[in-house]
Amino acid sequence: MLPRLPVYLLFSLPVLLVQGSTTSSSKNSTAAPPSPPPRPPPLLGDPTWALGLRLYQALRSDLSSVNTLFSPLLVASSLGALGGGSAGTTASQLQDLLKTPSPAKAGAQAAEPLSGALKSFTEANVTTFHLHTSSAVFSKQAPAVSQAFVKDSQARFRLQHRPLGKGDSKADLKQLHSWAKAGLGGLEGAPLEAKIQAKAGALILANALHFKGLWEREFSGESADRRTFLGKKYTKVMMMHRAGLYRHHEDVENMVQVVEAPLWGGKVSLVLLLPFHVENLARLDKLLTLELLSKWLEKTNITSVAISLPKANITSTLSLQKQLSALGLTDAWDQKVADFSGVSGKSKGKLHLGGVLHWASLELAAQAGRGESDLEEEKVEKPKLFYADHPFIIFVRDNATGALLLMGALDHAEGEALHDEL
Ligand SMILES: *[C@@H]1O[C@H](CO)[C@@H](O)[C@H](O)[C@H]1NC(C)=O
Ligand SMILES: *[C@@H]1O[C@H](CO)[C@@H](O)[C@H](O)[C@H]1NC(C)=O
Ligand SMILES: *[C@@H]1O[C@H](CO)[C@@H](O)[C@H](O)[C@H]1NC(C)=O
Ligand SMILES: *[C@@H]1O[C@H](CO)[C@@H](O)[C@H](O)[C@H]1NC(C)=O
Ligand SMILES: *[C@@H]1O[C@H](CO)[C@@H](O)[C@H](O)[C@H]1NC(C)=O
Repeated sequence: MLPRLPVYLLFSLPVLLVQGSTTSSSKNSTAAPPSPPPRPPPLLGDPTWALGLRLYQALRSDLSSVNTLFSPLLVASSLGALGGGSAGTTASQLQDLLKTPSPAKAGAQAAEPLSGALKSFTEANVTTFHLHTSSAVFSKQAPAVSQAFVKDSQARFRLQHRPLGKGDSKADLKQLHSWAKAGLGGLEGAPLEAKIQAKAGALILANALHFKGLWEREFSGESADRRTFLGKKYTKVMMMHRAGLYRHHEDVENMVQVVEAPLWGGKVSLVLLLPFHVENLARLDKLLTLELLSKWLEKTNITSVAISLPKANITSTLSLQKQLSALGLTDAWDQKVADFSGVSGKSKGKLHLGGVLHWASLELAAQAGRGESDLEEEKVEKPKLFYADHPFIIFVRDNATGALLLMGALDHAEGEALHDEL
């Protein structure tokens, strides 16, 4: 018999200490080259990046996917919480999903990266972004759920427990939908395409997240204008513009531009990947690896960049069962072998994972956070053009912990349709 090892205890921390150093920069804009802010921790030791990238690849291997968006941090946290209630191969498979290519350094604080990142993330609500989020594990006609599990997953991972009603699958879906809508702060999520058939003993993990970032420096309101976005369909959208100093890198060989734009306070930033030319994202999706992404981010340096972005919403509702199974999570779904004995003592042979559902929405808008006045003036010279009038990939990263809050792709921007199509 394998001992029951809670997954979250098996992580160690991928270094929270990196930044400390103070780069003193002159307040005078005429002063010599701006010293780049210190880099956040590397990606390779972080479970949110490792899982996020694998999940993204799995989702995008379905070429019909449009405007994919999910929160690797929420998915990883919820799976981590569930891992705490599992044993045997169910636990080890959950644990493997959260493995990272480079082991975390020893000696770092023994805190949990996921629950620490969740905390750091939600603390920046309102100042750095507007965030609504909710995570729950629903159970269908399950044996009594352990109070210790409920308490622990709530405290560490903000995962609530909700019983599903006695009704049929239609009633379940309705309950899940209204939960998701509340979780998104009242926003109607994209429709869920997969079927949900919760059998007795099913556990359904659900995450909902709505995110609207507030830039460190706002995009000009006056210069926003209607332009064509060359996505799945050609549409007329509002494009917003700003020239400033941003971390930027051009990979000429792979024909990709990388830009990192900080949100208010500099603790969270948006990283955008844009192909040089108009194309759909199939090529870039295939190219993406943790190593390459890591290299790109390391190579970015402060450059004058003129950024143009569509004002757009990316909304996505996903059922992740197929993808998580493809990534090796197989036992959890099977009533006969799943072992969630930490969720309920009487679970063997009954409790199983019935679904992993994810509602996410991200708004790209022009506003900055409050109090821009004390930022130094930027000296912009011959800016590089980062003209996002065609599909791009987007990451939202917590600078303090390095965690990946959101990952997604804008393949299509809503707007009045034009005739030509990509
Ligand atoms: C900024 O420039 C002014 C004059 O241009 C100078 O008096 C001041 O010392 C400079 N401050 C810094 C921090 O370099
Ligand atoms: C963020 O702040 C808004 C407004 O105060 C609030 O409604 C929302 O619940 C907060 N989100 C989180 C995740 O705490
Ligand atoms: C990350 O945050 C720290 C402090 O929270 C700040 O000093 C640093 O400049 C930030 N780095 C980036 C790249 O924004
Ligand atoms: C930024 O990187 C580019 C190429 O990656 C290089 O040519 C340039 O000198 C770098 N600038 C600074 C300030 O390091
Ligand atoms: C995005 O959604 C918000 C509502 O959450 C709406 O106010 C805004 O106009 C939308 N933006 C675009 C470009 O459709």
